[in-house]
Amino acid sequence: MNSEKRAWWKEAVVYQIYPRSFADSNGDGIGDLNGITAHLDYLKNLGIDVIWVSPIYASPNHDNGYDIADYRAIMKEFGTMADFDRMLSEIHLRGMKLVMDLVANHTSDENAWFVESRKGPDNPYRDFYIWKDGKAGGPPNNWGSCFSGSAWEKDEKSGQYYLHLFTKEQPDLNWANPKVRDAVFDMMTWWCEKGIDGFRMDVIGMIGKENYDDGPVRPGALYGDFAPSCQHTQTTHRYLREMRERVLSKYDLLTVGETSGTTDNALIYANEDESELNMVFGFEHNDGLNDGTPLGKWSDHGAPLRDVRAPLNRWQMDLQGRAWNTVYLGNHDQPRQVSRYGCDSELFRAVSAKMLATLIHTLRGTPYVYQGEELGMTNIYFTDISQYQDVENHNAWKQWVESGLVDAQDMLRYFARISRDNARTPMQWNREKNAGFTTGTPWLPVNQNYLLINAEDQVNDPDSIYHYYRRLIALRHTHDVIVYGRFVPLMEDSDEVYAYQRILDNQVLTVALNWTDRKVPCALIDETEGEELISNYPTHQKGFLQPYEARVILNKN
Ligand code: GLC
Ligand code: CA
Repeated sequence: MNSEKRAWWKEAVVYQIYPRSFADSNGDGIGDLNGITAHLDYLKNLGIDVIWVSPIYASPNHDNGYDIADYRAIMKEFGTMADFDRMLSEIHLRGMKLVMDLVANHTSDENAWFVESRKGPDNPYRDFYIWKDGKAGGPPNNWGSCFSGSAWEKDEKSGQYYLHLFTKEQPDLNWANPKVRDAVFDMMTWWCEKGIDGFRMDVIGMIGKENYDDGPVRPGALYGDFAPSCQHTQTTHRYLREMRERVLSKYDLLTVGETSGTTDNALIYANEDESELNMVFGFEHNDGLNDGTPLGKWSDHGAPLRDVRAPLNRWQMDLQGRAWNTVYLGNHDQPRQVSRYGCDSELFRAVSAKMLATLIHTLRGTPYVYQGEELGMTNIYFTDISQYQDVENHNAWKQWVESGLVDAQDMLRYFARISRDNARTPMQWNREKNAGFTTGTPWLPVNQNYLLINAEDQVNDPDSIYHYYRRLIALRHTHDVIVYGRFVPLMEDSDEVYAYQRILDNQVLTVALNWTDRKVPCALIDETEGEELISNYPTHQKGFLQPYEARVILNKN
């Protein structure tokens, strides 16, 4: 093997649980910790090594837990600290690990720190957040929030404004204050002492604010961009190195940053020297599909192969040997991957879901599976604004539709394609009422295709998407070439076939994926006489790939 360092978090497969929608144990319609504990064998049988749970801390849920009121308490809808301790020990008993979501760029406005801070300029917690005087009767600068509207909220009491890069119920912490860093690092240490195995760090690339200058305004945009002052700054890197030194280096953790940015940024965050994080999530293969208009993600943009492959391959090439990568297509902020990148029609759903799975599990980097993806769960395609729960949709609706800037039908079409609620509908466990998710009324409707798509049926069907994931995960655990092999892109001119090799010592893995619903010519695999490790078709056609066909061949020289 080459000189690269081995690490358990490079060899692992991570499964993301969105707790609200995973499994409800007490009939209140909201998933909970005991629901997770009851389904651990399902995850173990799938082959999962690490579970990442989206936030489970006390929260008023303006953004489903990404607004934390108390970092050391469990959200009451999700259970108690005793439920947490039992869940953690049951996870460890099965040889799996638990990664917590660390949301520390901002807190909830109901967090005790903010409640104090808001009391006035003299309060000892005032500097825990970012307070500024207004300018010319308006906010301190022109920044827009990620969830529409200004990034500043005026507090009537003191007349000052506080910064919130997300909703106004999510005030940004002031990391420049050493007391904030002490408080966050203490809290992280407290969870590490409880025995957790890592952190997924929410929008961590935004913690280091360097100035509060107006940001550039794109044509047609209503607000300025905060990124030049807040994203991927030297200051952020300094805080992460301090975090590494004071907390992370003391434990054996998996750390993954939700940073977005380019490979240049990733090379610093996730450098092999381990001075900051183990790995980061790139966004160029999903956010890069936006139209570049002021509407951002709200567009009709599809996912043609070239637009997806170019950024994925760039991340593969730029990072290899220098920084560790993640591989994912879906999560709680993205629509369902089979609906977006594959095809969710009855005819092609299974085969395209398996093709996409092959991609995620044979590219170089740690693969992340989002709950229900292993069943080929699809978008729900709501048709009315009232069906959406997500604050991101409602804020965008206010900003663009209610103001008359965008047509309602257009916006609903964009929402149906890309809304986060598509991926947040309850997990489809079986054919029973509410797909077995709850005996009560689910907080978000269950997708009615659960009679066709559910875990119980797929566990019993050896040809299912679930079993295909199981086989892919097992291959990672038995073939070093899948984890550590060098990535070599192939056929980069093709509009139809995504192909590449992975090479380790004398082993060559060749992967060919048909990204289309048509049979397409492809000679690559015919020339490669080797062992077929996995495919989503039982038989093959010489010189062609069938619709969404995936082939993985291993050669030993
Ligand atoms: C991250 C989370 C997202 C959340 C946002 C604000 O992007 O993944 O769900 O809304 O940060 O915390
Ligand atoms: Ca519940």
